[in-house]
Amino acid sequence: MSILNILRYPDPRLHKVAVPVTAFDARLEKLVADMAETMYEAPGVGLAASQVDVHEQLLIIDVTETKDALVAYCNPEIIWASDEMQVYDEGCLSVPGVYDGVERHARVKVRAQDVKGAFFEVEADGLLAVCIQHEMDHLKGKVFVEYLSPLKRNRIKTKMLKEERGIEREAMLRAQGRRH
Ligand code: NI
Repeated sequence: MSILNILRYPDPRLHKVAVPVTAFDARLEKLVADMAETMYEAPGVGLAASQVDVHEQLLIIDVTETKDALVAYCNPEIIWASDEMQVYDEGCLSVPGVYDGVERHARVKVRAQDVKGAFFEVEADGLLAVCIQHEMDHLKGKVFVEYLSPLKRNRIKTKMLKEERGIEREAMLRAQGRRH
């Protein structure tokens, strides 16, 4: 297994629309294993393939405290959503350090395929419902900050780009051996 690079907002690749998973093979299993390691290490409760620059309809979620109940959703589809909405403070591994309220369906029913291609259904509420909708947005090329006001979004963009430059500078200095 290996840790994958997580794209950071506002990387334009986060806005690519994912295509369906068609091959339920060893490559897919390895991708899920690598994504799981990446998510747990971050740490996070959900990760979409789009965030590691693989633009296929795949996401993984584990909202348990014990971190031992990973579920991989291939080609997920929301087949029912409650009229009732809830606002939850969301974060995202592609937008580190930023949390803000997003309104979503309080309960959803999702149909997806597992890594072997078998169909399954999940009825979710609470954090799991939030997570499924958040990760499915990634597959459509949408990052949660797009629900916020343009003003907030621009502030976040500026903050992220500033941090990005800081990270690049650190890496350059390290490469030059000027840091001890
Ligand atoms: Ni996210």
